Amino acid sequence: MLANSFAAAFLLLNIISFSASQQAEFTFNGFTGANLTLDDVAYIESNGLLRLTNDTFQMKGHAFHPSPIHFGSTTSSFSTTFVFAIISEYLDLSGHGIAFFISPSKNLSSALPSQYLGLLNIQNNGNLTNHIFAVELDTIYSSEFQDINDNHVGIDINSLKSSRSYFAGYYADDSGAFQNLSLYSRKAMQVWVEYDSQETQINVTLSPIGKSKPIKPLLSYTYNLSTVLNDSMYVGFSSSTGSVHTSHYILGWSFKLNGAAPSIDLSKLPKLPRTTPKDRSKVLDIVLPLASAAFVLILVVFIFLYMKRRFKYAELLEDWEVEFGPHRFTYKDLYRATNGFKENELLGSGGFGRVYRGVLPVSKLEVAVKRVSHESRQGMKQFIAEVVSIGRLRHRNLVQLLGYCRRKGELLLVYDYMPNGSLDKYLYDQEKPMLNWNQRFKIIKGVASGLLYLHEDWEQVVIHRDVKASNVLLDCELNGRLGDFGLARLYDHGTDPQTTHVVGTMGYLAPELARTGKATPLTDVFAFGAFMLEVVCSKRPVEPGARGERIILVDQVLEHWKNGTLDEIVDAKLGECYTVEEVEMVLKLGMLCSHPLPGARPSMRQVMQYLEGDTPLPELSAAYMNFSMLAMLQTEGFDSYVMSYPSTMTSFSGLSGGR
Ligand SMILES: *[C@@H]1O[C@H](CO)[C@@H](O)[C@H](O)[C@H]1NC(C)=O
Ligand SMILES: *[C@@H]1O[C@H](CO)[C@@H](O)[C@H](O)[C@H]1NC(C)=O
Ligand SMILES: *[C@@H]1O[C@H](CO)[C@@H](O)[C@H](O)[C@H]1NC(C)=O
Ligand SMILES: *[C@@H]1O[C@H](CO)[C@@H](O)[C@H](O)[C@H]1NC(C)=O
Ligand SMILES: *[C@@H]1O[C@H](CO)[C@@H](O)[C@H](O)[C@H]1NC(C)=O
Ligand SMILES: *[C@@H]1O[C@H](CO)[C@@H](O)[C@H](O)[C@H]1NC(C)=O
Ligand SMILES: *[C@@H]1O[C@H](CO)[C@@H](O)[C@H](O)[C@H]1NC(C)=O
Ligand SMILES: *[C@@H]1O[C@H](CO)[C@@H](O)[C@H](O)[C@H]1NC(C)=O
Repeated sequence: MLANSFAAAFLLLNIISFSASQQAEFTFNGFTGANLTLDDVAYIESNGLLRLTNDTFQMKGHAFHPSPIHFGSTTSSFSTTFVFAIISEYLDLSGHGIAFFISPSKNLSSALPSQYLGLLNIQNNGNLTNHIFAVELDTIYSSEFQDINDNHVGIDINSLKSSRSYFAGYYADDSGAFQNLSLYSRKAMQVWVEYDSQETQINVTLSPIGKSKPIKPLLSYTYNLSTVLNDSMYVGFSSSTGSVHTSHYILGWSFKLNGAAPSIDLSKLPKLPRTTPKDRSKVLDIVLPLASAAFVLILVVFIFLYMKRRFKYAELLEDWEVEFGPHRFTYKDLYRATNGFKENELLGSGGFGRVYRGVLPVSKLEVAVKRVSHESRQGMKQFIAEVVSIGRLRHRNLVQLLGYCRRKGELLLVYDYMPNGSLDKYLYDQEKPMLNWNQRFKIIKGVASGLLYLHEDWEQVVIHRDVKASNVLLDCELNGRLGDFGLARLYDHGTDPQTTHVVGTMGYLAPELARTGKATPLTDVFAFGAFMLEVVCSKRPVEPGARGERIILVDQVLEHWKNGTLDEIVDAKLGECYTVEEVEMVLKLGMLCSHPLPGARPSMRQVMQYLEGDTPLPELSAAYMNFSMLAMLQTEGFDSYVMSYPSTMTSFSGLSGGR
């Protein structure tokens, strides 16, 4: 009896001391069954990996210790350590990063993804009322936050512009030499964050997993966090993606107030998934010659049987699709048409997917089949409805969409085949024949007429959202035809309307589109303006300069116009063989369409009238055209955008053909 109540009292004591210390110290060796507050796309996988973001564009994810930590009115010392890994679909590109952070609230619904790391937004970045302390592991260079590179660690106080930052790496204990690390090497790494309230010093240390903590911290910064942190604060992780599929993982985490964070038991940490990056893996090159022929044969047979039985022709068909029946292709037909999506039928690949040439089995019609990887989510039904409605659009300057097919995680779109490929090839590839001025002018007028049809002549207003040279395909008579409409829209679906998430291509994106996320006919006009300048000058709207700066085509054209030297910016390959009046008119119209104020841009109907010479172009006044697109871009937060698409989007060749 006595013994029993002793035991009960002891148990009680244990629970009390546990709950009192619970807030001040905790350790997670993996997160199986962990009580964390998760939001957005963050979740705990069955093996205990905490996955902050999944393979989705423009997403954020947060994980918090569920109850607040009491740092005291003058912030106590604290220490934390965690193991993380970043797995991107590419070897040499990732986005956007992970932050360990301390925040007064668990509600970060107004924070933005991509370069804002799910922590802050355009309005509150840098605001002292944020009370946010963070250590960022940043894998994208954002010049607006004066980042040092695309692989750095930073200490952030109320702002994404780091107070201190340095290249990801560590100082070797013996030599003191700095060793670089790649944050997105797909390998687990450990971070320590320590704050000493007496010295008001913050240290951040990074090391490869398994190494003991390096003696010299990577970053050391003196700052009195009492001015930032309130008594009751939440600790956790934030992560965001931009336009690259990236998974951000936390494998283990410990925290302690007034003492060193308990060490993490590395042997208990969950395993990272094995995935192969998109870049051709070196592994195959090594494994194949080594493996015995028998092994390879067994593997091949196994894969063959597996594919054949499970996946070969599997499709996804839902009830609501029945009404779209006639526009649906069977996967089997598309598979046969493209010889099983053989590499030698590949016409191009890029941001939205790969495009194959094919010949339909019965009709023998030549088609282009675009495979878009896409998770079936909310917007799918609406998108398919749009695909089908767009399929009814008919215009000589639009690439005809013939239909679609759906499989798990994948959408296939079937278009008319355009034998001459995409316009950008003619502008930039030396091998393609040069287009003379009359051909270029015809293409510009054709694309304008296609856009006008989408905007005004069809039963509903269709906004293209991705007008650019690589989306203009040339038919056998070298007429320009717009392709790919609506696809950008697919990626807009299901995202938070508050975020300024836009899909499009840098240089063609109107400033207000980045700000509001809302595409309008006038944002298409902006892109068309950039397109016209591109066709006349054979220069991309944004080109990297020799010193890594950006050269904005419209700014250059403006400059030449002000100096009265417009002829110097015209594609030199045209020589003297062009009609000066037409070229000048197109350049001026291009500038007008590229005006940063949407109200100053003409409508597509007016554009068409100017191009056809039905209405003379109004005189442009220097005051009216007094803008610099570069300055606009720098204040509009475009940067992570550009950085996210180093090559994928710019080299995207759409439904190009003619190899
Ligand atoms: C990613 O998370 C979103 C939102 O929770 C979900 O809709 C989507 O299916 C997930 N994607 C993957 C590949 O897990
Ligand atoms: C998780 O922690 C919170 C805050 O400490 C608590 O209210 C909740 O009951 C816990 N949930 C579980 C399942 O333990
Ligand atoms: C989170 O904050 C937003 C405003 O920023 C508010 O609209 C929303 O209701 C809050 N959510 C919760 C769960 O408190
Ligand atoms: C900081 O945020 C507060 C409240 O949201 C706002 O009133 C204030 O103008 C902001 N200050 C700065 C410098 O942005
Ligand atoms: C580490 O990386 C930085 C930035 O990429 C580079 O400037 C530096 O030379 C590298 N240092 C070493 C030791 O490789
Ligand atoms: C930070 O690092 C410096 C240099 O190694 C060390 O003297 C100091 O004690 C460290 N401070 C904390 C809070 O770990
Ligand atoms: C840090 O700031 C708090 C509040 O402003 C102050 O009470 C404390 O003395 C400061 N700490 C040091 C070491 O200066
Ligand atoms: C944090 O403390 C500051 C000043 O002490 C106060 O103005 C602010 O309201 C507090 N914030 C929260 C979320 O408690």
